[in-house]
Amino acid sequence: MNKEKNEQEADENRQGEATMVKPGSKLNGKKLFIESYGCAMNFADSEVVASILAKKGYTTTSDEKEANVILINTCSIRENAETRVRRRLTNFKNRKKHEPTLIVGVLGCMAERLKKRLLEEEKLVDLVAGPDAYRDLPSLLEEVGTGQKAVNVLLSREETYADISPIKLDKSGVTSFVSITRGCDNMCSFCVVPFTRGRERSRDPQTILNECRDLLERGYREVTLLGQNVDSYRWNLTSKGEIKDTNKPTTNFAELMEMVAQLSPDLRIRFSTSHPKDMSDEVLNIIAKYENVCNYIHLPIQSGNTEVLARMNRGYSREWYLERIEAIHRIIPDCAISTDIITGFCDETDDEHADTISIMKEVKWDFSYMYKYSERPKTLAERRFEDNVPENVKAARLTEIIDLQQFHSLEANKKHVGKTFKVLVEGPSKRKPDEFMSGRTGHNTKAVFPIGDFGKCDYVMVKINDCTAATLLGEVIEILPPTN
Ligand code: 5AD
Ligand code: SF4
Repeated sequence: MNKEKNEQEADENRQGEATMVKPGSKLNGKKLFIESYGCAMNFADSEVVASILAKKGYTTTSDEKEANVILINTCSIRENAETRVRRRLTNFKNRKKHEPTLIVGVLGCMAERLKKRLLEEEKLVDLVAGPDAYRDLPSLLEEVGTGQKAVNVLLSREETYADISPIKLDKSGVTSFVSITRGCDNMCSFCVVPFTRGRERSRDPQTILNECRDLLERGYREVTLLGQNVDSYRWNLTSKGEIKDTNKPTTNFAELMEMVAQLSPDLRIRFSTSHPKDMSDEVLNIIAKYENVCNYIHLPIQSGNTEVLARMNRGYSREWYLERIEAIHRIIPDCAISTDIITGFCDETDDEHADTISIMKEVKWDFSYMYKYSERPKTLAERRFEDNVPENVKAARLTEIIDLQQFHSLEANKKHVGKTFKVLVEGPSKRKPDEFMSGRTGHNTKAVFPIGDFGKCDYVMVKINDCTAATLLGEVIEILPPTN
């Protein structure tokens, strides 16, 4: 696979489809087009933004040409993510030349990172709102309406948008993201997220349950609980595990997942992202206990070498990671595992890279998201180390791990040929929508099968007859009735 394409697809696949927006009416002339980039959290946040602005009379549209407000929810994780957004913003700036009333705003991580620069120096946009400032959007838009530039990039220690019911922008109506934490306290040295999304905070479990219950009632059949580090979800608990208020109940991630799993056996639960240093056996036991909690864990390793992991400030060693893999196999015998890998981190030697190759051969992840290291301003790595692995070496190492992963993914899928899996039908297949439907197994592998007497949101048993590295091809042998 082409490297740039891999990086771009990795970004897109982690998060799902490109932003979707509902066709809107001409109500008040307030037509909003939202485009999201980057992580699943951004896609979920855009739905919070749509909800906040809907209360002020804005309707969303999927046609950017008919919008009078365009908001771009941005990502700063790698330089190329920012480059793509800048290109988009430049296009909109050109459009504003002959459409001066058009309002263009930037949300999310780039807003937080670049603050006023996008408004003042680069004059690319009218409005800048950081990830914790979305409640302020109605007044920021009003300010822009009076001819001023508007900015709010204050980060909060409390904001979780807990009480806001997101407006679903993705039309599929089958699967949904549900945020459970915001921010990150981990300070991995390569990562910009703690600077752009602020301190970690957990959302009230009752509001999470309400959102999941509501989705279930509206026909959704899968929720993905989202956080930068879901394992550190804690309600009414300090980071040391002590109870904050003894009169109130406490909830950790395992308990939260169990509460969501008990809503209905027809609602599938996924979660992302797990952190190797925090993923407990208690969490693994809940995954094993509930059939509707998918046997799939995304557990980023980043590097297979302990010294590199220390420079990355990841908080675990190669051996610790391997022990967690062993625990997964012991507690959940049939569990798919994926990972994230960065190649060419500061000072990475050939031998250190070889450790990444060797751990890939040892763990044999079902799939991986693989990236070249991209230095980000203000991060610990930028301040402490030199981005000194030459671009061609980074690229060659990336190619090597992509090729190896392709081989492992194909091997993993080949083992599934001849077996039968429970699949949640998501809709017509992308390539041949008139002939095939597609969905995902509990392992999070895409399955494609001929159209039959079933529709999206149904659970079906699919017998696998063939595969590629990315997809299982099969036929439906049973349509499962709803359990309640
Ligand atoms: N360069 C390359 N990849 C990065 N990631 C995070 N920061 C960087 C960076 N500066 C990757 C990590 C993380 C995933 C979301 O993005 O692998 O797990
Ligand atoms: Fe970034 Fe590390 Fe936090 Fe993930 S856990 S968001 S990589 S700092």
